[in-house]
Amino acid sequence: MNTLRRTIPILAVLSVATAAITGYLGDWLTGRPTGWGLLVHLAAAPLVMLAFTAAALVWGRAHRFDRDQAGISPVRKLLFWMLMLCVWVNMTVMLAAMLPVFGYVGQDRLADAHEWSGYGLLASGALYLVLRFASTRDGRESHDAS
Ligand code: HEM
Repeated sequence: MNTLRRTIPILAVLSVATAAITGYLGDWLTGRPTGWGLLVHLAAAPLVMLAFTAAALVWGRAHRFDRDQAGISPVRKLLFWMLMLCVWVNMTVMLAAMLPVFGYVGQDRLADAHEWSGYGLLASGALYLVLRFASTRDGRESHDAS
């Protein structure tokens, strides 16, 4: 279980970093990820899904607002659930855009939602990590939450 608890955050950070670099660089340089960039982006996608599904299963209980077993602050709990929501929106809108259901305009809007939920994901994830490491340095957190 300890190996799993160490592997999930590493996988989450590496897969999101890969998806973010290929996604935003493609968007800024050519309007959208294409070629090798898109291929790497899509290779990182299942790892993002796997890492965050595992994170929700392993740490969801410790981030419930009605419990305070692990000494996690309410701000960090809020950031955790904001992060999960952004990841969920990020995945769902792009998977929806791949279905032959939405027209060009709809797909364009879904790609925008994918891009903006990506910003939300990066912001809430970065803030979460800052607070996580700050609380470890203070020695406030129990080992259950790490
Ligand atoms: C979770 C799995 C993910 C899947 C299945 C996925 C899939 C895709 C696909 C298919 C595109 C091309 C869209 C197009 O050509 O219009 C794309 C673009 C993009 N992705 Fe992802 N992606 C994922 C995760 C992420 C993450 C985690 C980020 C950022 C943190 C991200 C940021 C972007 C950006 C910025 C674009 C360009 C959007 C645009 O052209 O307007 N993606 N993604």
